[in-house]
Amino acid sequence: MQYFKRIVDLHKYLSQARSNGLTIGFAPTMGALHAGHMSLIHDSKLENDITICSIFVNPTQFNDPADLEKYPRTVAEDLDLLYDHACDVVFVPTVLEIYPPDGISSPDFDFEGLTDVMEGAFRPGHFAGVAQVVYRLLNIVRPDRLYMGQKDYQQWTIIHRMLEQLQLPIDLVMVTTVREPDGLAMSSRNRRLDPDIRMQAPVLYQALSEILEALMEGNKDYRALENNAKEKILAAGLEPEYVQIADGYTLQPAHPAKPSKRLVVCVAAWAGEVRLIDNLFLDQ
Ligand code: PAF
Repeated sequence: MQYFKRIVDLHKYLSQARSNGLTIGFAPTMGALHAGHMSLIHDSKLENDITICSIFVNPTQFNDPADLEKYPRTVAEDLDLLYDHACDVVFVPTVLEIYPPDGISSPDFDFEGLTDVMEGAFRPGHFAGVAQVVYRLLNIVRPDRLYMGQKDYQQWTIIHRMLEQLQLPIDLVMVTTVREPDGLAMSSRNRRLDPDIRMQAPVLYQALSEILEALMEGNKDYRALENNAKEKILAAGLEPEYVQIADGYTLQPAHPAKPSKRLVVCVAAWAGEVRLIDNLFLDQ
């Protein structure tokens, strides 16, 4: 496995690979890697000659400094895991490498309401930071395919819009959420859960699954379904921030009078001191 800290060294390696006609798959991460990330690596390896994973805890996407500080950092274990999964290249830049003091500008994107709802409403500035770092990383890596997880459905949708606006020839691949046996979506934050609340955390997946079943049965009372789910989550001892049945493309609250080709059900909740998100979607 090739390991790079500096952009100039990574550039040399990748331009050589490109001139040899090799395709590049890219999985950007913030480390604290788990089986969910490994499924990105796995899918990229199937579809590309070279798979590169970046590990960079991006300060600009944390609206809460305490969250940035507590974000798990486990680079040595991450490298072992990537090596075990035969990842070809790992890029671990410093903050100065990504954000040099002389500044690097990124375009102003128009996300047309995608960033105002759900995570965008509860974490102001978060998606501006995500778009900034992904734009920067894409300029550095220039992959053929970009791999991002379904668990961050809103993030995926925003990056999809960004690629459309930039007209970059990069395929964005959505990789299905990997779950623990009890249904809890894998997340770097799970390792911070207290054992008691960890036992209750699968309620998020249960609540989402119940909504999805109701939607499949034709229930269109979206707001009532959301409220029932919030009560269920509260009863299990978690604190829901939102449960939202939304249009899967615009991310605006779904409305029975406006049929959607895809409905996505998203949840965010506090499990003790840890904020968890999850979603399920239904194509119809
Ligand atoms: O999903 C994440 O881990 C991060 O938001 C990303 C895409 C690596 C950008 O920092």
